[in-house]
Amino acid sequence: SIISIKKKDPSTLSRWILKEQQKYPKAKGDLTVLLNSVQLACKIIANAAKGAGIYNLYGITGEENKSGDIVKKLDTFSNESMINCISFTGTVPIMASEEAENSIIVPNCDQPKYCVVFDPLDGSSNIDANVSIGTIFGIYRIEDPKKPQDSDLLQKGEKLVCSGYAMYGHSTMLVLTFGDEVNGFTLDPQIGEFILTHRRIQIPEKGSIYSINEGNAKDFDKVVTTFIHRCKNPTKGSPKKARYIGSMVADIHRTLLYGGIFMYPATKDSPNGKLRLLYELNPLAFIVEAAGGKASTGSAPILSLQPTSLHQRQPCFFGSKADVEEIEALYASTT
Ligand code: AHG
Ligand code: MN
Ligand code: MN
Ligand code: MN
Repeated sequence: SIISIKKKDPSTLSRWILKEQQKYPKAKGDLTVLLNSVQLACKIIANAAKGAGIYNLYGITGEENKSGDIVKKLDTFSNESMINCISFTGTVPIMASEEAENSIIVPNCDQPKYCVVFDPLDGSSNIDANVSIGTIFGIYRIEDPKKPQDSDLLQKGEKLVCSGYAMYGHSTMLVLTFGDEVNGFTLDPQIGEFILTHRRIQIPEKGSIYSINEGNAKDFDKVVTTFIHRCKNPTKGSPKKARYIGSMVADIHRTLLYGGIFMYPATKDSPNGKLRLLYELNPLAFIVEAAGGKASTGSAPILSLQPTSLHQRQPCFFGSKADVEEIEALYASTT
């Protein structure tokens, strides 16, 4: 079907970003340039992911990153694409990436204004199996433009200017929030534009899906074990469905649209869980909360945490308000 781009309708991501900027008369368009640069990186990564089998982008690099993950070829390609596209803006002096041990300093950045935290390729274990993967990003203001530093990257998630994720599935989507509402755009490869397809995503109040890697069940605490038991043996109604993709972006995207709860609690190997606060949990928590859901540590909002290091991990419970509040009530009753 021919895309009906109506005159007044900001139905492409590029126009949406421009419209958003027009709300702030004093805005110089720096955020517009930055978001369009991130959009470009996601299109480049989408193209590489689609052709990974052809362009020899499957497999590993033989390196390990700061989190101890085996680095895949597409991790490295995506990381370089994000760094190159974001550096072009001239307004981002410093960034944090899952694939960089320390913060990335952008040389001769003459108008320091924003910093970006990102997971260039989320769900790397699924790349070679052609299962949905993604890119996650969050944008903060630089606190003192005269002195960009790591603390700019370690701001609380509640200080995010905007955050989003791209999801490389049977269609490529980009979901974005400025904190007030969540909108989803689908890439039309014929015109190379992300088209608005999911206006004001609102997560269902309660869901019938639970999402967790039950391979770690022997390590779960009493609360998680009790909650999962309740999912399988409800006092009334039918058991919840178990769905676990293993790419956080895909599990969160499904949770946003269908409702339910996604959990990555502490395990023996990872007493702080596996997922990284800065570039996985905070940007996705900003989205889930803006869609009317909750993102919790089990006892506090993820967005309220004060990060202390770039790659720190954090147990997490994301999803429909009622489901996450059930977990929080269980934790509250055990203290
Ligand atoms: P990444 O590929 O960026 O390292 O992230 C992988 C994460 C996340 O996407 C997913 O939710 C989780 O790893 C899956 O972990 P398990 O394989 O331990 O379930
Ligand atoms: Mn990884
Ligand atoms: Mn990830
Ligand atoms: Mn990653």
